[in-house]
Amino acid sequence: MKWVLLLTIFLGTSTAIWAHEEHEVPSSTPQTSEVSPTAESSSPSESPTLWETLLSHPHNKVVHFPIALGLFAFLLFVLALRWPDFQISAEVLVLFGFLASVVALILGELQKSAFVGTEQESLMLTHERFGWATAIGFFVWLILMRWKPTRNWAWLVGLGIALLVSLTGFFGGQLAHTIGS
Ligand code: HEM
Repeated sequence: MKWVLLLTIFLGTSTAIWAHEEHEVPSSTPQTSEVSPTAESSSPSESPTLWETLLSHPHNKVVHFPIALGLFAFLLFVLALRWPDFQISAEVLVLFGFLASVVALILGELQKSAFVGTEQESLMLTHERFGWATAIGFFVWLILMRWKPTRNWAWLVGLGIALLVSLTGFFGGQLAHTIGS
């Protein structure tokens, strides 16, 4: 069943990369005195270099990983109820989902200052709380799926995380794509 493991990991991670639809990043960040340090090097008339594009707004780029990994892990846990061979793939995806959510959390905290003191601050705080709950939820999922007494219920915990990560992503999308409120 090695190929099933490899295929599911590939699909789970690659959807995260393909999922990002390009959008005008500078317009999503409120116009405050604080601008992303990486965006400062190019004047408005110049187009940003490839490196500036890659390095600016890192949170927006990384967030697709916990979302895709969490949703895909839940799907595999459901499939594992019928085909137990999927269990190991699901567990690997939860581990990577947890790690990705910690990275998203750190990068989100570093990007939040652009929204402090703006009309979107309360939306940002709501998104932040959901983000923390998602990362903690992944950790709980990780523990419960390895603990024998709760192992069989891991799919139910996964349902909760799938909802949580979707709501976090929804609020994040609102934050990045709604100007003013
Ligand atoms: C697992 C946790 C998290 C997930 C899944 C997540 C998800 C997202 C998503 C999907 C977006 C929209 C990105 C886009 O459309 O380009 C976003 C934006 C954002 N998130 Fe998060 N987020 C998480 C944690 C956090 C935390 C803890 C903070 C801290 C305050 C945070 C702050 C932000 C900010 C400031 C933006 C707007 C960035 C911008 O466009 O300038 N996020 N997030």
